[in-house]
Amino acid sequence: GTEQRISTLLAQMTLAEKVGQLTQYSGRQLTGPASDRKTDLLNSIRSGLVGSMLNVTGVQATREVQAEALKSRLKIPLLFGLDVIHGYQTVFPIPLAEAASWDMAAIRQGAHVAAREAAAAGQHWTFAPMVDVARDPRWGRVMEGAGEDAYLGAQIARARVLGFQGERLGGTDAIMACAKHFAAYGAATAGRDYNAVDLSDQQLWETYLPPFKAAVDAGVATFMNSFNTLNGVPATGNKYLQRDILKGQWKYQGFVVSDWGSIGEMVPWGYARDPADAAQKAITAGSDMDMESDAYRNHLAQLVKDGKVETALVDDAVRRILRKKFELGLFDDPYKFSDLKREKQVLSDPQHRVAARQMAEKSLVLLKNQNNTLPLGKQHRTVALIGPLAKSRRDLDGSWALNADTTLITSFYDGLAKRVGAGTRLAYAKGCNVQGDSRAGFAAAVAAAQTADVVVLAVGETWEMSGEAKSRTDLHLPGVQEELFQALKATGKPVVVVIFGGRPLIFDAIAEQADAILYAWWPGAEGGPALANVLYGDYNPAGKLPMTFPRNAGQIPISYQQYNTGRPITKPGEIRYKSAYLDAPNTPRYAFGHGLSYTTFRYDNLQLSQPTLTADQSVRVQFRITNTGTRAGEEVAQLYLHDVVASVARPLKELKGFQKLALKPGESQTVTFTIDRATLSFYNQQLAWAAEPGDFRLFIGSASDDTRLEGKLTLVP
Ligand code: IFM
Repeated sequence: GTEQRISTLLAQMTLAEKVGQLTQYSGRQLTGPASDRKTDLLNSIRSGLVGSMLNVTGVQATREVQAEALKSRLKIPLLFGLDVIHGYQTVFPIPLAEAASWDMAAIRQGAHVAAREAAAAGQHWTFAPMVDVARDPRWGRVMEGAGEDAYLGAQIARARVLGFQGERLGGTDAIMACAKHFAAYGAATAGRDYNAVDLSDQQLWETYLPPFKAAVDAGVATFMNSFNTLNGVPATGNKYLQRDILKGQWKYQGFVVSDWGSIGEMVPWGYARDPADAAQKAITAGSDMDMESDAYRNHLAQLVKDGKVETALVDDAVRRILRKKFELGLFDDPYKFSDLKREKQVLSDPQHRVAARQMAEKSLVLLKNQNNTLPLGKQHRTVALIGPLAKSRRDLDGSWALNADTTLITSFYDGLAKRVGAGTRLAYAKGCNVQGDSRAGFAAAVAAAQTADVVVLAVGETWEMSGEAKSRTDLHLPGVQEELFQALKATGKPVVVVIFGGRPLIFDAIAEQADAILYAWWPGAEGGPALANVLYGDYNPAGKLPMTFPRNAGQIPISYQQYNTGRPITKPGEIRYKSAYLDAPNTPRYAFGHGLSYTTFRYDNLQLSQPTLTADQSVRVQFRITNTGTRAGEEVAQLYLHDVVASVARPLKELKGFQKLALKPGESQTVTFTIDRATLSFYNQQLAWAAEPGDFRLFIGSASDDTRLEGKLTLVP
């Protein structure tokens, strides 16, 4: 079996070759001009001193570099990894957008398409999914995750891992996934990237770890640790996270790669004296592969010789990495993923674009639709499309589209122009830039609006404004975009606002005065056609926010999981000596789970199979949803729970289930959720996952702030 083959190989390896397997470099230098670095890297690869490369892309390049590795003494193939975050060549919506679909089959399919393309282009491994829960939109990397909720995040983590990897590794249309960033990277203090994290164990276990555990349960091949500290200890050198929890309690058999340079960064953190000390701390804590720190390469062998690191630790790390190379089938065929013909065929598969468009449609969130302004129709004989993002293409792909073919992007304008058809005139004006304070384009924009029956305004962030190292303190729509909106609104024409961005943005006048708002996120290469289809009602929007939209940055961090506090506001407006702000309500602008449709849904007939349960019983919760409008549509029914009295104060609402259903006009469907001990459990003061007897309130509805049915359940001893 595989373990025997690994043992045989391990027995032949020198210490230097073992350390080589634990070393990963970026291949950017390999495709560049001659340099000392390039020569050194190629020599190292030929000498068996490198285990993995990132950023070497395409069949041609990966083949060439793999050939160098096969010149080494033991001919151990390299692993090629890349950040395939939302598509390889065909760019899907950003992960946060996909999360808004609440559609696990579609999310899994999106990851599968990305894997299929990447695997056909020489990749073995993606550094995705990012499963960091995040409740702070100042943090630029919220675009890369699944939002603020542990339960939704865990479902999505599972869907993405299965999408990338398939049921098991070894096929040529699957790549290894990587659950990152372990752990609590999303809780960076004040939303500043790479910052310290100070977190209670309770919050760690309850909010930040569940998506990682779900990834383990789905068979994720690898983990990446993170740049942040957790309660003072860098995650990369954190034994509690990597050895005790991941490899201990969760019995994880995959390997852990460091984040880029994160072993070395323990020195500036003030946690390691020098790179040698950092290497010792990282390997001891369970970091198996060193991405770009050079700490293992330069110091690990000496640490072993000096008796500071046990050989067994190194062997265990090597074993974990070799295991994945065997599982991928690389020892049998190191060029398995490097087939020029397959690369060409798969990358031009038109089905991938169809999938990207469908995913984009599912990701769009209708935040507001006053007087049924949308959908557009034949009555809108002239449509004025205005705004700095109307004709932009690159911005639609968003951040982390490393290998995207940007010529494949259809702009919003092009998508809409194709959809409106012959009977409709499409006027256009840019109005202003995303950033800067020039109002020079306002007059032309207003003039275009005056000729139109409806104005569609495309505003938001550029692709470079959210992502890694893109934290911001001011989340208002940049520049004069809101002013442009006001100038257009003053024409008296209905104004539909389409907002692009990688995070929940803040917009005031638009929220209050726009006739309709569609949140587009960064919708990917097929965003233009998807937006056109939704604006015209060919697809009825069904997206729901996976993350709270605050009213202002002062409310951050914010999530729907609020506590009652000892001083709740009991009468609206009466805030004296209550847990409140003097200058803003506690409620967000748009709540978690919010998202409208062109139709309406009624919830009724709530029934519980029994009003009480014991810890070994389960209760069936049933209710009916009816499409009460005139269009077919989809609804995400959400179940929230509140543990009224517990040994640890519980949030007023916690998501415990959801179901997405499609209903024709007038159609009803019965939805069933099951509640059992696991549903009612939480981490108690001893950090045990347990359910406590007592009363629970149930809330069922269309959003965390729009629940339509309420019930009560009692857990009896
Ligand atoms: O995968 C990423 C990680 O998320 C952030 N730092 C760099 C890595 C490799 O590109």
